[in-house]
Amino acid sequence: MHRSRIIGCGAYLPERIMTNHELARMVETSHEWIVSRTGICQRHIAAEDECTSDLALKAAQAAMDDAGITADDIDLIVLATTTPDQTFPATATQVQAKLNMTRGAAFDVQAVCAGFLYALAIADNFLTAGQAETVLVIGSETYSRILDWQDRRTCILFGDGAGAVMLRRADGNGNSNDRGVLSTHLHSDGRLHDLLYVDGGPSSTQTAGHVRMAGREVFRHAVIKLTEAVEEALEANDLTAKDIDWLVPHQANKRIIDGMARKLGLAPEQVVLTIDRHANTSAASIPLALCEAVRDGRIKPGHLILMEAIGGGLSWGSSLVRW
Ligand code: COA
Repeated sequence: MHRSRIIGCGAYLPERIMTNHELARMVETSHEWIVSRTGICQRHIAAEDECTSDLALKAAQAAMDDAGITADDIDLIVLATTTPDQTFPATATQVQAKLNMTRGAAFDVQAVCAGFLYALAIADNFLTAGQAETVLVIGSETYSRILDWQDRRTCILFGDGAGAVMLRRADGNGNSNDRGVLSTHLHSDGRLHDLLYVDGGPSSTQTAGHVRMAGREVFRHAVIKLTEAVEEALEANDLTAKDIDWLVPHQANKRIIDGMARKLGLAPEQVVLTIDRHANTSAASIPLALCEAVRDGRIKPGHLILMEAIGGGLSWGSSLVRW
């Protein structure tokens, strides 16, 4: 049986850092309020001339270097983003061009903060079906462009950044000791649209629009739905929470993440946290966190990693990966 193995990862964060103190000069908020409700201390903001594809390219190049892969080796680029450079073509094709990649295919996936898990699931299916050998999965966002900087309920939460993983088809035995993606589980419920959305778009308003959110309701759904998705992933692999080495969650709110870790009986040291420095980078948050924990040596071959995410749609999911 085939498995999709992650053979490299990369990350990129724009240079400019915006602290909570700086935000407190723009809207009525405080560093203390933001930290106590979310765990966020700062976020990175893309430069004026930096687009989602520029961030994605840098993360992709780092992942390629890490994996020892050139553009000629890549069959497919799947890029998760909610903040594409343009309405069309896909930002993934911009990255493809910037990499001088002249073969294969590239497309975008739109599942907001669950985007990376959706992209990973698509890549995993291409690889295990034998339709690709090597797939580059990227999560890249410039959320700063779709925030209402007068709305303190939303502008404090998000940041810009990109993360990427390189996947390659490998052989496996079909059990949970295999190295690679063990499972992906995806869900969405479009009836919950109004809880988290952007109030613009090419077909409705012909503007890009701004993020709108019913924070408390999203919080409530996040706790319930993420718990279900995690249970589903463990059950599907005949594993229990005790088997998990690392929780690499979507970084939306430290209180949601802490709650999940408590429920799973994980020690705080087993949770990869970047929200304090990156804030919520939507589709980029999981690969950014993953890459950090791989680079600093926390995640080692054989470790079991649990990933989970929820975002607009609502869309959510989970994945178990044996590193
Ligand atoms: N600074 C200061 N006060 C703020 C504020 C800010 N940045 N944002 C909201 N407030 C105020 C509200 O106006 C409200 O005041 P009121 O009681 O006088 O009306 C009060 O704080 C409580 O607001 P509420 O929205 O109920 O706060 P909360 O404890 O739910 O925290 C979130 C708000 C957004 C941090 C929290 O709901 C959350 O994280 N939700 C999940 C969001 C999420 O994860 N989204 C992304 C999913 S991908």
